[in-house]
Amino acid sequence: MPTPAIHKGLSGVVVDTTAVSMVDPDTNSLTYRGYPVQDLAARYRFEEVAYLLWYGELPSTAQLAEQNEAERAHRDLPAELVGTLLGLPPSAHPMDTLRTAVSILGANDPHEDDNSEKANKAKALRLYAALPAVVALTQRRRRGLPPLTARDDLGYAENFLYLSFGEVPDPVVVRAFETSLVLYAEHSFNASTFTSRVVTSTLSDLYSAVTAAIGALKGPLHGGANEAVMAMFEEIGAASNARAWLADALAAERKIMGFGHRVYKKGDSRVPTMRDALREVAGARGGEGILDIYEALARAMYAEKGLHPNLDYPAGPAYHLIGFEVPVFTPIFVAARITGWTAHINEQLAANSLIRPSSTYAGEPRREVTRA
Ligand code: ACO
Repeated sequence: MPTPAIHKGLSGVVVDTTAVSMVDPDTNSLTYRGYPVQDLAARYRFEEVAYLLWYGELPSTAQLAEQNEAERAHRDLPAELVGTLLGLPPSAHPMDTLRTAVSILGANDPHEDDNSEKANKAKALRLYAALPAVVALTQRRRRGLPPLTARDDLGYAENFLYLSFGEVPDPVVVRAFETSLVLYAEHSFNASTFTSRVVTSTLSDLYSAVTAAIGALKGPLHGGANEAVMAMFEEIGAASNARAWLADALAAERKIMGFGHRVYKKGDSRVPTMRDALREVAGARGGEGILDIYEALARAMYAEKGLHPNLDYPAGPAYHLIGFEVPVFTPIFVAARITGWTAHINEQLAANSLIRPSSTYAGEPRREVTRA
């Protein structure tokens, strides 16, 4: 029997269709439900993009108002959940806290196993509403501050920042943060989304699919890269060190975080928009030194390896300048990506087939046991 071709890492393998988003590496474009992501980031609120991902169309004024009202009603976490999360060791990674929070929200949902589209849309909305409070709780805990109560007079991004910092920063900063949420919201069959679809394909529940996706996103080859980028900037220290630092890192065969992409080989379509947002935040927050490192390392990396930055490269330093603790960067990515994951979960259920690939056996040949 001929040995079947092996597609390590499923690279280039097309496993299904999706109507949620399209990544076109040739034209360097990303569309959500047909709309270019950079246009959505420039002209729409994150709330509208969430609706678009879930329902396939941008919302009318009335539809948006209805969704916002429901979201605002679910912003605060149940007191017992707050108690449980604050009972986790202070050293717990915020991604672990977030994963635990989603698990507990699932365990407390009497409709956890209702996989109807309507029930799953309601669960998606509640998670989208609650995740900023979980992220903010860990951000504040790391600074020895108690959690705050959500404000229902604020939009999603403003409330997220208020819960994290106790004040709404100036509009330039809010806008940059919201841009990152829109850009992080969805990206077709990436590792975490695929994970959520694999779990869903067994007809498990949405919370299980989301906790699994959080686990996949945590890794530094995926969402964890935005945290690793900031650690790298701290090591580099100043733009003038970037070339020498890179030479040493490449000589040590280190992966340079925030560069390269499985799909985009000519550059990540989201980077120019997020780089502009980073510039805005840097201008507002005195982050010129960070911008200089950003540009110097990007130039050196292109010259050395021909590799372009991915979205995590500008997002990490932008979150740092906004004031977030490094370990909450990837949880912010989760709060945005919950929209895309849950759109995919419902899409998977609408035309489900168990995802179960095959493998070529490479172990011991068949042998007999010796015990009589
Ligand atoms: N630093 C150094 N070398 C790299 C990098 C990098 N960041 N990315 C790719 N390369 C090199 C590889 O070493 C390899 O070289 P070789 O052919 O000499 O062995 C070549 O480029 C191809 O790289 P692969 O790892 O095979 O590419 P793949 O498509 O599997 O990897 C990945 C994509 C995992 C994103 C990779 O580029 C990487 O590890 N980047 C750093 C982590 C990162 O930034 N992840 C964020 C992804 S985007 C997101 O989640 C928003």
